[in-house]
Amino acid sequence: MNGLRDKVILVTGAASGLGYADAELLTESGATVVMTDINEDSGKAVADRLGNLFLVQNVADEHRWSEVMLEIRDRFGRLDGLVNNAGIAPIADIETTTTEVWRQTLAVHLDGTFFGCQTALGLMKESGGGSIVNMSSTAALIGIPDYLAYSAAKGGIRSMTKAIAVHCRRKKLRIRCNSVHPGSINTPMVQNAVKDLMNIELDPNDEKKRKAMGIGEPRDVAAMVAYLLSDESKHVNGAEMVVDNADTIV
Ligand SMILES: NC(=O)c1ccc[n+]([C@@H]2O[C@H](COP(=O)([O-])OP(=O)(O)OC[C@H]3O[C@@H](n4cnc5c(N)ncnc54)[C@H](O)[C@@H]3O)[C@@H](O)[C@H]2O)c1
Repeated sequence: MNGLRDKVILVTGAASGLGYADAELLTESGATVVMTDINEDSGKAVADRLGNLFLVQNVADEHRWSEVMLEIRDRFGRLDGLVNNAGIAPIADIETTTTEVWRQTLAVHLDGTFFGCQTALGLMKESGGGSIVNMSSTAALIGIPDYLAYSAAKGGIRSMTKAIAVHCRRKKLRIRCNSVHPGSINTPMVQNAVKDLMNIELDPNDEKKRKAMGIGEPRDVAAMVAYLLSDESKHVNGAEMVVDNADTIV
């Protein structure tokens, strides 16, 4: 992807799945990528493989966001991009969702994305602008019964993104904010869901089964994320970019 060289970009939840695929494509495109995750062991291992800085981070921890931003400013002096990607997807409907699961899901997705956007704005303003990509889901557009708290959280991310985009445009901050809405993509999150809900084993490398089930590849989403972070998308702001091969249309 063009237009990413030398940009400093933070990707959360980068130890696995979509976050890792984003970090890999951005690194290949010449960006300086900071990878964070709550899972220190696998996060450090995959960041070392890509030659990137890894920081351990629970996105639901407000204080840790300030520390991460300070470290990025100290090391690189700027922040051009943020991908609020970290997430969890507990399977529970309106009758089975406990208060604990509800609060935890909203904490990771909604609190995490809010803290991320708020702290990134400070450093991006100093850097002369930037691009924020918030990982939502098609669950935000249709509501998925078995993912009650997740659907609510992703819907919140969708509208928070638009509110931030308009704020930044009004204030002439040169910061854009967009959401990405993948359908099912072959990551550990979906492999677990397919096993729990359908009793089907989906091997990460089983291309035949993945295609037969209409499931996308992490790189399909990474390409959209990279576009939104690049200057090629300079007129795209407050948009909801669906990556689902028309799955949610009928
Ligand atoms: N895979 C899909 O089909 C799909 C579809 C739509 C949206 N998404 C969204 O994409 C994002 C990535 O999902 P994925 O499929 O790669 O899942 P994944 O489970 O493979 O990866 C999620 C990563 O987030 C990390 N994480 C979890 N809680 C965290 C926390 N509190 N702080 C920091 N890191 C934390 C995990 O350790 C893991 O590395 C999530 O926001 C998810 O909701 C995924």
